[in-house]
Amino acid sequence: MGLKEQLAQWTAEVLAVQLKTADEVEAFRIHWLGRKGKMKEVMAMFKAAPDEEKRDLGKLINEFKQRVEHCVVEGSAIDVQSGGEDKQQYDWTRPDGGVPVGAHHPLSVVRREIISILERMGFVVSEGPEIEDDWHVFSGLNFPEEHPARDMQDTFFVNRSPDMLLRTHTSSVQVREMEKREPPMRIIMPGRVFRNEAISARAHCMFHQIEGLYIDKGVSFSDLKQTLLRFAQEFFGSDTKIRLRPSYFPFTEPSAEVDVYWGLKTEVDKRITKGTGWLEILGCGMVDPAVLEASGIDSRDYGGFAFGLGIERIAMLKYQVADLRAFFESDMRFLEQFQGEQ
Ligand code: DAH
Repeated sequence: MGLKEQLAQWTAEVLAVQLKTADEVEAFRIHWLGRKGKMKEVMAMFKAAPDEEKRDLGKLINEFKQRVEHCVVEGSAIDVQSGGEDKQQYDWTRPDGGVPVGAHHPLSVVRREIISILERMGFVVSEGPEIEDDWHVFSGLNFPEEHPARDMQDTFFVNRSPDMLLRTHTSSVQVREMEKREPPMRIIMPGRVFRNEAISARAHCMFHQIEGLYIDKGVSFSDLKQTLLRFAQEFFGSDTKIRLRPSYFPFTEPSAEVDVYWGLKTEVDKRITKGTGWLEILGCGMVDPAVLEASGIDSRDYGGFAFGLGIERIAMLKYQVADLRAFFESDMRFLEQFQGEQ
């Protein structure tokens, strides 16, 4: 008998069947759909069939399978409805197959890991407001009045007041902390920041930073470098190398940008490091005395260092994510990959 005839016969059989109890439904299911069930036979016959018949046969098989599955679903429903009489048929203690577990967001994982490394070095966490005034975001950090970062193009202003804005960096929290605390202080300040940027694979209008600030007597540039080296080695691995390149920020002097050595082994390495092998991870420097003074700290007694890093940037490196937008799109296929990450 060909597969087609066989299917016709089985279809008649399935149509005639009457399932009354949970056991019958289950036996039916195993007979047709089980691991050694008849559907397996069908598939084997399908495989052996001549190619030109496969199209038609495929359709028939699908129909047949749906009919069988329909019977199983209907059969289970009847059983639940009949509840009372059939109690012993229905196993209420049967495991439910589990609830799908969620995953931590990759940005939370990275944020937590960075914080825990710095906490072990004696930094404490503090947070500040996302809606800020000009003083804490710019003026208190020594940004000159005409600095381009204040421009409408970079900053989102609130209610058209030129004094209220969404913070463009977490450095604003430095100012708040220096105003509030007495030195010495060792603080990290995680948070969301906002910039009026076109959204692309490399830029977003909202992202996350972690700011670091260390103020004490006799803090030197080598303290800064050692702290960052230690951090990089804890995060990226104990043989990680870093380099500091001179840079400029209004609130630090001298200022630097820090790169980690990523390597040049693969084509991807070459592309993301633009052929240099080095990748920038953060900005830093010695707190400018003008910034200390503006917050009421005597710069003759105290000095310090500060640094600021982008969480998305570090997460992109850690998980090799090429497009920043993936972090904000809530696509389950992306997020599920981080199951098990703490
Ligand atoms: N606020 C800077 C930015 O958003 C990052 C930064 C650079 C923070 C140097 C610092 C620092 O504390 O010392 O680009």
